[in-house]
This record gives sequence, C-alpha cells and structure tokens, in this order.
Amino acid sequence: MGMSEEKNGTNPEMERIMDRLYELGGDIIRSERFQRAKSVPHHGTTSVAKHSLAVAGHALQLCERAEKIGKKVNTTDAVRAALLHDIGMTDEDVFKRVSFVKAYEHPIRSAEIAKNEFHANDVQVRAIERHMWPVCITPPDSREGWIVLAADKHCALAEVTGNTNPGGILDGELRHEKAPGGGEDSRDE
Ligand SMILES: [Fe+2]
Ligand SMILES: [Fe+2]
Repeated sequence: MGMSEEKNGTNPEMERIMDRLYELGGDIIRSERFQRAKSVPHHGTTSVAKHSLAVAGHALQLCERAEKIGKKVNTTDAVRAALLHDIGMTDEDVFKRVSFVKAYEHPIRSAEIAKNEFHANDVQVRAIERHMWPVCITPPDSREGWIVLAADKHCALAEVTGNTNPGGILDGELRHEKAPGGGEDSRDE
C-alpha cells in the first residue's frame, strides 16, 4: 500500500514486520545515532543496529501473540524500547568497558539516550533499564518490559551461537535505510 521499495525476494511476513517497525519507530531507525549503531559490533556476529532490529521484530511478534490471546499490550512501547535497548553501546566510553561493567552500564546509558534523544516515555525507559535482568537487581515491571527482555535473550542467544539473523526478520542489510527521511510513503509531489 504505497510502499515503494522493491521486494527483493523477501518473504511477505518479513516485509510486513519491517514495515510495521518503520511505522512505529522509523524516526529511531533513520536517526544518525541508530545509523552509527550499524558499525558497532555486537555478540561477535552482528551489529548493535541489526541486533536491535531483530529484537524489535521479535518483540512485535510477541505483542501480536499476546493480543491474540486477549492480553493488553502497548506494541509501540515494546517496539521502541527494543529498538533503543542497546543504543548506549554507541557511546565509546560504554562500549570500551570490560564486559561485566558494560553489561551493567549499557542499559542505563541506553535509557538516557532514549529519553533525551527519542522522547521515550516511562514504560519504555524502564523496559530499557531493566532488559538485562538478572544482571540488574530490578526485574521489568510491565508486560512490554518482559517482552523486550525475552526478545533480547532469544536473539542474543541465537547471535552468540552464530545465527546473525535470528527469526529471519532482516533479509539483507537494513533495507529501508535508503528511504528518504520522514514519512512511511515516498510521494513525488
Ligand atoms: Fe543489552
Ligand atoms: Fe540486546
């Protein structure tokens, strides 16, 4: 419906998920900060940006499943928190830390960035801060927070064991990155 990107042979479910991620978090994905995350390595096999898109896609699917069984969930909050949960790794100070300090610090920095640069609300901020539980003491306090945590663990486990594309959500590199800034549709007028 108005999406102008070529289909590139990707499967329609992946296309749908990516379109939905752009609807809910296109401003994040197109941001300079997120684009920088493409060159920040993560889990030995992927980048912070690619991992975050995989987590967001998985979180979206979990939200849809929750809704199907009658659970109320805010998909926007879950997707936006997922896209931003590791964004703190784009700060060199955080990235360079030894791993156990980094595991503790990056959620805090990610939450600050989410709030300051992407207007994250309280649900999103807390989901980001707590996504590393039980590394941090306080567990998530919302359904969205648990979804981000579960999606992150699922994708991280796949990635550290060599699957750079858990769930097959991304076919190729961030295919929408070339889309001109702003709207979901590119119009000529
Ligand atoms: Fe993380
Ligand atoms: Fe993560």
